[in-house]
Amino acid sequence: MKKTFRLLIPLLWMLMACGDPATQPSSSSQPADKTQHPDYAKGLALVAQSDCLTCHQVQEKRIGPSYTEIAKKYAGVNDAMVSELAQRIIKGGSGVWGEIPMTAHPTLSQQDAEGMVQYILLLN
Ligand code: HEC
Repeated sequence: MKKTFRLLIPLLWMLMACGDPATQPSSSSQPADKTQHPDYAKGLALVAQSDCLTCHQVQEKRIGPSYTEIAKKYAGVNDAMVSELAQRIIKGGSGVWGEIPMTAHPTLSQQDAEGMVQYILLLN
């Protein structure tokens, strides 16, 4: 009886020690997937319904800056800046990225425009 224990305990200990690092990558060290954020799908749907994608691409600069560039520039801004950016989408914007202005989107609500900004900022 005593002898079995002395063999069994180190064996169990070894199994646990080996098992631990192997299970870690799938549980704790996974980066948060931003596409799972509730604002992502909502904002993406709003952007897709509007004319945004004729001038903006996610990765490449077109007539307007890419959404990834915009997300980098405004990373970590507060709510006041989010509503300011929403205002620029509604009223049109110019002079921040270059000579070409962004057309106004007067039919958009402030709430929807902010939803679009939230989505864009998640692309950083
Ligand atoms: C006619 C082309 C065009 C359309 C359509 C358009 N944009 Fe833009 N957008 C631009 C340009 C050009 C700029 C850069 C303006 C500047 O330099 O201030 C810009 C800038 C922006 C910015 C950054 C504003 C800033 O001050 O840095 C955001 C955010 C943005 N657009 C979101 C949107 C969204 C959301 C839509 C759809 C509702 C949209 N855009 C539709 C051309 C467009």
